[in-house]
Amino acid sequence: MKRYVVTGGAGFIGSALVRILLEDGSVAVIDNLLTGHERNLAEVRGKVELHRADIRDRAAIAPLIRGADVVFHMAAIPSVPRSIDEPVPSHEVNIDGTFNVFQAAAEGGVRRVVYAASSSAYGDSETLPKVETMLPRPKSPYAAQKLVGEYYASVFHSCFGLETVSLRFFNVYGPRQDPSSPYSGVLSLFMKSLLCRRPPTIFGDGEQSRDFTYVEDVAQLCLKAAHAPGVAGKMYNAGNGGRYTLNFIWSLLQKTEGVEIPARYGPPRPGDVRHSMADTAAAVAELGHAPRFTIEEGLKRTLEWYRREA
Ligand code: UD1
Repeated sequence: MKRYVVTGGAGFIGSALVRILLEDGSVAVIDNLLTGHERNLAEVRGKVELHRADIRDRAAIAPLIRGADVVFHMAAIPSVPRSIDEPVPSHEVNIDGTFNVFQAAAEGGVRRVVYAASSSAYGDSETLPKVETMLPRPKSPYAAQKLVGEYYASVFHSCFGLETVSLRFFNVYGPRQDPSSPYSGVLSLFMKSLLCRRPPTIFGDGEQSRDFTYVEDVAQLCLKAAHAPGVAGKMYNAGNGGRYTLNFIWSLLQKTEGVEIPARYGPPRPGDVRHSMADTAAAVAELGHAPRFTIEEGLKRTLEWYRREA
């Protein structure tokens, strides 16, 4: 039986991935429960090994990673603004912690590591969609940290023979995204505002756009990246290939719910990227990426979940 390890497996994206992996093998989760929650694994808790450990602690995580077939490295302190407000922990987790995971995997005989990279690495490139061959232009500590992780992934492959695949996630949303922090993903905050009938705050004019990608599509792509042949050492976009403005999404949500709640507008956020949209051709051709969820369907499912659970 395959043994999978998911760092950050109690988090929003990690826990969706755990559910998919359980159909294919055994799963061990490494999570410090800083931004993740045990409740994210509630109905699969009996089938998962959950280790409360911090990726900054190499000695603690090395024995948990040793001998795994594939490690999915999802653990991170996400958020662009958080990396500006709290650069030290964000650096330590996203760069030092990532190094520790690769190092433990290389020493521990792991076949492949799938790394959660970020679309923020592109920054404000003039052309859309964003293609993997473009020069990265990180605009925030978070973007720089995630990019360093990609470079480490590539170097662990070329220097130490560890198979790695980096996936640049494009604004992932869906059930279990935690809306409780000001650093939470914008769609989780929109969902909370909508259900509480409170205006959301939009930073800037709301005409910035994102390639919002449903969590299940991203989790499926992670599994494909774990097994695709001939892709070790490479990086791929993990997006949908579309883009929507915040104004459009907020008006769509109001219509769906049959309410009128004008948004409040605040100053633009430092480090913010204006537009983001993935070119998905390489992921489709080489990994078999096949996103299933339109924005309407994804938002509908997400809203249903928040209505039920949050
Ligand atoms: C960035 C990355 C994304 C990464 C994420 C991790 C880009 C293009 N994307 O997302 O790949 O996974 O960091 O956290 O860099 N906003 C509001 N009101 C709010 C909150 C946010 O208007 O209450 C705006 C932000 O200013 C931004 C957009 O919504 O323009 C999206 O913000 P957020 O959800 O935090 O994600 P990004 O920073 O785009």
